[in-house]
Amino acid sequence: MPFTSLVARLPFPSAAVQRAVGIAAVLAQALIGVTGSIVRVTGSGLGCPTWPECVAGSLVPVNHPGIHALNQWIEFGNRMLTGAVILVAAVAVVTAWRVQIDHPSRTRLVKLAWTMPGGVVLQAVVGGLTVLAKLEWWTVAIHFLATTPLVWLAVLLLRAFREGDEPARPLVPAAGRGILVALAVVMWLVLAAGTTVTGAGPHSGDLNTHRLAVPVEALAQVHGGLLVLYLLLLAVFGLHLMRIGAPKSLWRHYTVVWVVALAQGALGSLQYALGVPEAMVSFHVLGAMTVIVATASLWTAGRDRGPVTSLTAAPRELTAA
Ligand code: HEM
Repeated sequence: MPFTSLVARLPFPSAAVQRAVGIAAVLAQALIGVTGSIVRVTGSGLGCPTWPECVAGSLVPVNHPGIHALNQWIEFGNRMLTGAVILVAAVAVVTAWRVQIDHPSRTRLVKLAWTMPGGVVLQAVVGGLTVLAKLEWWTVAIHFLATTPLVWLAVLLLRAFREGDEPARPLVPAAGRGILVALAVVMWLVLAAGTTVTGAGPHSGDLNTHRLAVPVEALAQVHGGLLVLYLLLLAVFGLHLMRIGAPKSLWRHYTVVWVVALAQGALGSLQYALGVPEAMVSFHVLGAMTVIVATASLWTAGRDRGPVTSLTAAPRELTAA
């Protein structure tokens, strides 16, 4: 395949490069959700009314009657980040591919890397449908929720760069694995419930978008209640870790989940009490992304795939074989 021989000519990515690419994938997937929310709450979707130019005659924001400079820069920044997400997705595929050329067993790594550009295409389609549906609240919710598995997959990719390809050996017994699955499911329920709160509140779509006709208070209670369930499961998982004498690394990831989930809960409660000020909405979305990253990291820390063998290039004669 001509592409393979092109990729094979690239230098082998060092351990530091592999790690940087994994981290960039996580950051790109998480931050695009945050900038999307900034565009939404500041009503900047039409800050750049044309594409690829921001305003007629200029690729970048310029003084334009009727469009506030801040809205232009916010929408322009979001476009730039979309470009960065595409670039990072492409770099992730090429890096994983280059690694696999020297280490043919690394097919899982390559598959995970391909989910990054796959996700960009999926989100482009969902985003287009959201605009066609005139930012109907449930389409905005789907657009947001579609990002969440991509953030999770990016964390798996980051981890895959530094682990082997043996079948996953759980570090916690079956009961603990069950709790981790329940924790992930409830996390997504918290996220989905959050989007219904947004759908009923003032920050869904634009001013004219029709809202979810359910009282915000009731939806916020369901959203907060699910967080309580999530924290209960987390506590039960902690007891389980104590009982099995879990390794330090698992405890470290576990503690991080507590810290980010509690901080996010506190932020959400404050935001609700203050009547959902716009600036806090984007911090809440950033917090939601951090919860996903922390939960996914705990998930990966709960299993072992053997030692990583692909941090350095294969010896020459093996490459040729
Ligand atoms: C781990 C904990 C939490 C997570 C992961 C989370 C996640 C989310 C998500 C994903 C959204 C939708 C954002 C969007 O569509 O742009 C949201 C909205 C919201 N959440 Fe949370 N949330 C958490 C805890 C809380 C708590 C404890 C409260 C307090 C009641 C709360 C209050 C809200 C409010 C008021 C909104 C609507 C904001 C708006 O108007 O757009 N959240 N949350």
